[in-house]
Amino acid sequence: MEATRHVANFGAGPAKLPRSVSAAGEALQVYGFVIHSLSFFHVAEMSHRTSDFSKIIKTAENLLRELLNIPENYKVLFLQGGGSGQFSAIPLNLLGLKETRYADYVVTGAWSAKAAKEAEKYAKVNIVHPKLASYTKIPDPSSWNLNPEATYIYYCANETIHGVEFDFVPDVKGALLVCDMSSNFLSKPVDVSKFGVIFAGAQKNAGTAGVTAVMIREDLLGFALKECPIVLDYKVQVENASLYNTPPCFSVYIMGLVLEWIKNNGGAAAMDKLSTVKSQMIYDLIDKSNGFYVCPVEKKSRSRMNIPFRLGSIKGDEALEKKFLDKAVELNMISLKGHRSVGGIRASLYNAVTIEDVQKLAAFMRSFLETHQS
Ligand SMILES: Cc1ncc(COP(=O)(O)O)c(C=O)c1O
Repeated sequence: MEATRHVANFGAGPAKLPRSVSAAGEALQVYGFVIHSLSFFHVAEMSHRTSDFSKIIKTAENLLRELLNIPENYKVLFLQGGGSGQFSAIPLNLLGLKETRYADYVVTGAWSAKAAKEAEKYAKVNIVHPKLASYTKIPDPSSWNLNPEATYIYYCANETIHGVEFDFVPDVKGALLVCDMSSNFLSKPVDVSKFGVIFAGAQKNAGTAGVTAVMIREDLLGFALKECPIVLDYKVQVENASLYNTPPCFSVYIMGLVLEWIKNNGGAAAMDKLSTVKSQMIYDLIDKSNGFYVCPVEKKSRSRMNIPFRLGSIKGDEALEKKFLDKAVELNMISLKGHRSVGGIRASLYNAVTIEDVQKLAAFMRSFLETHQS
């Protein structure tokens, strides 16, 4: 128990939970209404048709509305199927808005590429910029070739694998904007009214795997294609308050606790400041390492959530990287290995990762550099 408490988890998701949330039993009192048994298992076993679960899901919704200042004309859903389920749900729910079935996609990394590929099953997909040779930047929006016939424009706010993050909301001149915010959700305030749909899997910044939050403007409901699976049909789920089928009750509960933790720690604005401080600590070190640590992402598109980097050179010295990872584990810093498709190292600095965790990582990176720089 003692050992696990001091492990710093830099995993990309499922990721670290705030300590107050993962400190099991005590958390059950947090909502301020009585849950009969002082055990997490009570929630895991709870029927989704009970009044206790209604309170849990309503509490989570209210907290989310408060934290992101979600306008009243937006519905909030808690669904199964993950971000990947939403890659299908988006075209299936929105393409019916227009006859043409065109959709615009901005592809800045592996996740938006997957979303575009899934959409191709239902839509004529237009990638709005020339294909990128590598996912290391956001193509300048002034060069995007938007199709005026497109039903919506889709982008991923933070590419978890490649470490590319939008620090702006694209100005699409009133067109319908859709965003995957899975990996930078609640790391900063966001003007929800600029979007038609936002979705985010909880397992990075907002809880555990199993639940995906969807925020949708209500005038967009009711246009699902007939082939849309009923569990992905936003209108059906709105009419059933996310309870058309069994929701991931336990994950919704944990998400509520994390939302409450965010609220008690200053909300999205405070998370924003912390994210800048934490990520700057690592980027500064990388940039001052004389090429020992190399982050391939263009400075202005660097993610504050996921920092991918190589050791030795931009291609990486795999033997040195293995040494780095082994030593990190020895020092109780885990899940720093880069995604298998890109290799190298990736430090994920989600909301629950503390300044102290990041200071520990930075100190280790500094001493590793001093020992191994030739
Ligand atoms: C940005 C982003 N979108 C979508 C997904 C897919 O989520 P899921 O695995 O829950 O389907 C991920 C997963 O890591 C992600 O990072």
